[in-house]
Amino acid sequence: MHQDSELALLMRKMYAQNEVIRKTLAAGRLPETFPEDFYRIHEAKATKKVLHDQTTFEAMATTYVETMKRLKSSQDPAEAKLIFNEAITTCASCHQVYCRGPLKKIKRLKLPVE
Ligand code: HEC
Repeated sequence: MHQDSELALLMRKMYAQNEVIRKTLAAGRLPETFPEDFYRIHEAKATKKVLHDQTTFEAMATTYVETMKRLKSSQDPAEAKLIFNEAITTCASCHQVYCRGPLKKIKRLKLPVE
């Protein structure tokens, strides 16, 4: 039977939470709450075959967490949109390497910026 890894479960949450953040930003507002869950990305256990290169994974996970922290501290809705798109680019970069399945779905999270 297929057993979902801790990382896979965390990713599904991250996806759902980012959809909420996306809607808030698209409406021109700043998100009021931030999920702290995504800080666990380093600890969550992945299915073994996925993480053959731990160094690359760690580096991209760090970039992702740092981008989310910048988003959290942004006070400007227009700037926050750009930072959000950067975060989604980081999701996509890691997925190019480790897990191409959800790539299309992830790219759709990007916000149109004028
Ligand atoms: C540092 C690398 C990395 C980053 C950053 C990352 N992911 Fe993932 N993601 C993975 C890996 C690896 C898996 C596969 C996990 C497994 O199978 O154990 C995964 C799995 C997923 C899945 C599938 C989960 C399932 O149902 O099996 C989704 C959806 C997902 N990620 C969305 C996202 C979104 C959205 C972001 C950004 C907000 C993101 N990911 C950022 C590495 C990453």
